[in-house]
Amino acid sequence: MAHEQVKIFDTTLRDGEQAAGAGMTTPEKLEIARQLDRLGVDVIEAGFAASSPGDFEAVATVAREIRRPIIASLARAHPNDVDQAWGALKGAGQPRIHVFLSSSDIHLMHQLRKNREEVMDMAVSMVARAKGYCEDVEFSAMDASRTEPEYLYTMLRAVIDAGATTINIPDTVGYSIPEEFAQLLMDIQENVPNIHKAVLSVHCHNDLGLGVANSMAAIQVGARQVEGCINGLGERAGNAALEEIIMSIETRKDFLGVTTNVDTTQIYRTSRLVSDVTGFPIQPNKAVVGLNAFRHASGIHQDGILKERSTYEVMDPASIGWPGTTLVLGKLSGRAGLRSRLEELGYQLDADELAQAFEGFKLLADKKREITDPDLEALMSDQRRAVSENTSFTMEHIQVSCGDHEIPTATVKLTGPDGFTTTDAATGTGPVDAIYKAINRIVQVPNTLAEFTVNSITEGIDAIGQVTIRIQKDEGVYVGRGSDTDILVASAKAYLNALNRLLAMEEAKKESAAGVPNP
Ligand code: KIV
Ligand code: ZN
Repeated sequence: MAHEQVKIFDTTLRDGEQAAGAGMTTPEKLEIARQLDRLGVDVIEAGFAASSPGDFEAVATVAREIRRPIIASLARAHPNDVDQAWGALKGAGQPRIHVFLSSSDIHLMHQLRKNREEVMDMAVSMVARAKGYCEDVEFSAMDASRTEPEYLYTMLRAVIDAGATTINIPDTVGYSIPEEFAQLLMDIQENVPNIHKAVLSVHCHNDLGLGVANSMAAIQVGARQVEGCINGLGERAGNAALEEIIMSIETRKDFLGVTTNVDTTQIYRTSRLVSDVTGFPIQPNKAVVGLNAFRHASGIHQDGILKERSTYEVMDPASIGWPGTTLVLGKLSGRAGLRSRLEELGYQLDADELAQAFEGFKLLADKKREITDPDLEALMSDQRRAVSENTSFTMEHIQVSCGDHEIPTATVKLTGPDGFTTTDAATGTGPVDAIYKAINRIVQVPNTLAEFTVNSITEGIDAIGQVTIRIQKDEGVYVGRGSDTDILVASAKAYLNALNRLLAMEEAKKESAAGVPNP
């Protein structure tokens, strides 16, 4: 039986970035977009062009560089937003303008402060404006699941007449229950006479933990585009987790009768990249991509798995690109062995990148007897950060003295963006405080430390420690990560990484404020 295709619309770079503390730089967004392209999603929502000059630049960059999927920009139902969206998208191979406007009385009354007729006019005229720029126009009726049905039908019919080719039904506040949401989708198909002219899409938030369940219920009654974020990232409790939706479709094709275009073996890599860039860890018991997703602890389960995997596993870990049994590398492993393992983990490196990785690997192998896949992932994460920071501060040297009879003191040597190397020292309440104060004396960017966590990447006394921190300056929150077998060095790397991202984002804001291209 031929399966109908469900389009996968990824909004990690837009709704995902709206998660508090998940801000990304344009190069980071581009790297994620490249990986989403490998994953095979149909649509990448690259940002909300009118929301800031930085977002405009990110959408334009992704649109220029990523050619296979449809690239979308979000736009409020305002002329300037639609124009800016087009301005950022016009270089895309397949551009889509995504216009959204609230439709529920709660939003009309308290947020928009407009009546239904005024809102209807805005929706129709802005869809028509977008259509004047590009064929592919999506319309989202924000808070659709809490909208009075007759008004929603009328609005959807009108925007399809005005040129919308995809109609998105968001459960904006994650309020729906699956049966209820499916009924809404069925009612829309019954009561909007021209609905067959558009692709019916859903966008479910996870406030009650039902984002994926609502999306699946909608697919069962005819939704043919589903929106979500990798790892369930997103505003508040997040959006529906795309990897869960994709694997549900893949695993239960027999029941659902639908399929996707996705290369599921890219899921693991995509999930780890998004977690690494945003600094949002993946909970161990997370479906599909959590560390425990394919681990079996109980004796009965282990017995079953050893006899036949399908006794306790509904997916083959290899189908999501899980690296599988870990091959341990060590001091004597050569460049070819490292390259082959990195390739198996999904890293495609050119000769320079491999040389740099090999250098880091040798340094690590001097300190740590066995190097496992998570160690290699940490190494590659540090390398990726170092490359994207090549115009900012780098750490040359760090020395710390502390103990129960010492005043914690740190000396750091940094090379700045101007190429000059500076050494400075400070004391603090503890060694990390001393390091951060010494770095502050050189970098001189006032900020507050909002979060500091240390995790061990592997087991054992020689494990790599990974430090994740968030710092705050004005309204912005900036994540930083660093790893090392010495957690004080990892702490220094994480702080420098956060500071460098802060500096890069502030610089990007200044540059684009000076010259936002007119659409
Ligand atoms: O949650 C929502 O309603 C949205 C729309 C802008 C699609 O993100
Ligand atoms: Zn949303």
